[in-house]
Amino acid sequence: MNLQKVIISEHLDRALTESISECEPDKVFVLADDTTARCCLPVVERFECLRDAHRIVIMPTDSHKDLTSLSHVWQSLSEGGATRHTLLINIGGGMVTDLGGFAASTFKRGINYINIPTTLLSMVDASVGGKTGINFLGLKNEIGVFNNAKSVILDTEFLKTLDTENLLSGYAEMLKHGLISDEHMLGQLLSFDIEQPNLELLKQMVADSVAVKQRIVTDDPTEKGIRKALNLGHTAGHAFESFALKHQPVLHGYAVAWGLIVELYLSVIKTGFPTSKMRQTVRFILDHYGKMNITCDDYPILLEFMTHDKKNIAGIINFTLLESVGGIRIDQTATRDEIYEAFDFYRES
Ligand code: GLY
Repeated sequence: MNLQKVIISEHLDRALTESISECEPDKVFVLADDTTARCCLPVVERFECLRDAHRIVIMPTDSHKDLTSLSHVWQSLSEGGATRHTLLINIGGGMVTDLGGFAASTFKRGINYINIPTTLLSMVDASVGGKTGINFLGLKNEIGVFNNAKSVILDTEFLKTLDTENLLSGYAEMLKHGLISDEHMLGQLLSFDIEQPNLELLKQMVADSVAVKQRIVTDDPTEKGIRKALNLGHTAGHAFESFALKHQPVLHGYAVAWGLIVELYLSVIKTGFPTSKMRQTVRFILDHYGKMNITCDDYPILLEFMTHDKKNIAGIINFTLLESVGGIRIDQTATRDEIYEAFDFYRES
C-alpha cells in the first residue's frame, strides 16, 4: 500500500497547497457532507489552491454512507470530467472520509485522495490508516477496501466548534491509544479536562495519539496481526452500538468507552491487567460518558451481536486484551460465562 503522510498543520492553506502539488492533479474535486459544506467549505474554498475545484456535497450522517451517496460521488466525478489524474479532497467526519476514500479508490480503478478530518473522531481514527468503505444491507462498513490517502491534514482549529459529546466520542479512541501505548500517555489522558479543553495541549495529545495509530498501521496495514490492537474496546463496543440502534443510537466513541470497561475487566481476569489501572480508567469513563443501562436479560442479544462481529473467525468471538498498559494481546477468546461476568462488572460499576 502507498505511504500515507500525516500532517499536523498550523496553516491549512499552506499544507493543502503543498499536498495538492505533490499529487500533480489535472482537476481537483472537494467532497463534503451538507453540514461540513456549510461550516467548513466557506473557509477552505477561499484558498487559492482550491480556486478551480469542483464541489460535491452528500447528505450527512452514517445512515447516508451508502450506495446512493457513493453513486452520487462517482457520477459527479464522471460528469465533472475527472480522469485517472484527478484528486479528490474529503473534508468532514469519518462518514465523508470513509465514503470519499472508497469512491476515490474505485473510480477509474483508483485516483488520489486527501483527507481533511474535521471531527476529533476522524482526526485520531477514521481518516488515518486507509480503511475506506460504505454500509450495505444494514451492515456497517460491509463493502470497502484498504487504500491510504496521499495525505491526511489535521487542523485542530476545527475542534473549536465541536460540541462536548463529539469531543468525547473522539476522546474514547484516544483513551484506547493510551491504553495500547504507555502509562505516560494514559496518565495524561486521564488527567486532562476534556470538557473544558486546553486546545494547545489537546493539539499535542492528538498528534501523539495519531502517531500511535500511524506506527501500528504502518507495521500491519491490512489487519493481519498487530493492527488488531486498535480493536481494543470494539468487540463489546460494537455490540453496545448495535444494541443502542434498537433503542436510542449513541455516538461511536461512547460505545467504545463502555466496551473498554468490559474488555479491561476481561483483561484483568484473563491476561493479568492491573486492577488499579482498570479502576482508574473505568472511573474516568463513568464520570464523562455515563453508562447505557442494560439488564441481564440483554446479555444474550449483546453476545449475539459480538458473535456476528466481522473480526471473528469461525464464529469465535475475537478480543484484543491487555496484560499491562501497552502490553497488547491480540486474538484472545472468552467463554460465555466470562463475558457475562464482564457485563455484570459493567452494570455494577
Ligand atoms: N479503527 C481501527 C482501525 O483503523 O483499524
